[in-house]
Amino acid sequence: MAIRNVVQVGDEVLRQKCAAVENFDEKLWELLDDMKDTVKMEEGAGLAAPQVGVLRRVVVVDVEEGYFEFINPVIVSQKGEQSGWEGCLSVRGKSGIVSRPMKVKLNYYDRNGQKFQLQAKGFFARAICHELDHLDGVLYIDKATHIEKN
Ligand code: CO
Repeated sequence: MAIRNVVQVGDEVLRQKCAAVENFDEKLWELLDDMKDTVKMEEGAGLAAPQVGVLRRVVVVDVEEGYFEFINPVIVSQKGEQSGWEGCLSVRGKSGIVSRPMKVKLNYYDRNGQKFQLQAKGFFARAICHELDHLDGVLYIDKATHIEKN
């Protein structure tokens, strides 16, 4: 396990569309282990694979509800709306107000390739939406109505 370098805004890798994971193998597990070390060390609410330079559909989320690994995640339904502050480990020293769904239902695979569905609300739902945007090259600063320096 190791800490990986977090790519910063301006790097084109953050603007690419990620490909689906096809092999649930040791290389994926090493990526997930390193992402866990990295997000814990950085004290982030989540991290997406492109933020460590890997263009695959892999995110981790670390919130009150627990620590989660989502492979090939897809939001299958969403409900309501919430507006609140977000930051990003790839946009240091800033935060912004972003509108997100209040609730989401997510389909995803775990690290062994088993399929699951999960429902999230509030900040958990916000973190999921933020991380999934990274997989399509979208940053919260593209959606924020207001951005401030920390
Ligand atoms: Co981010």
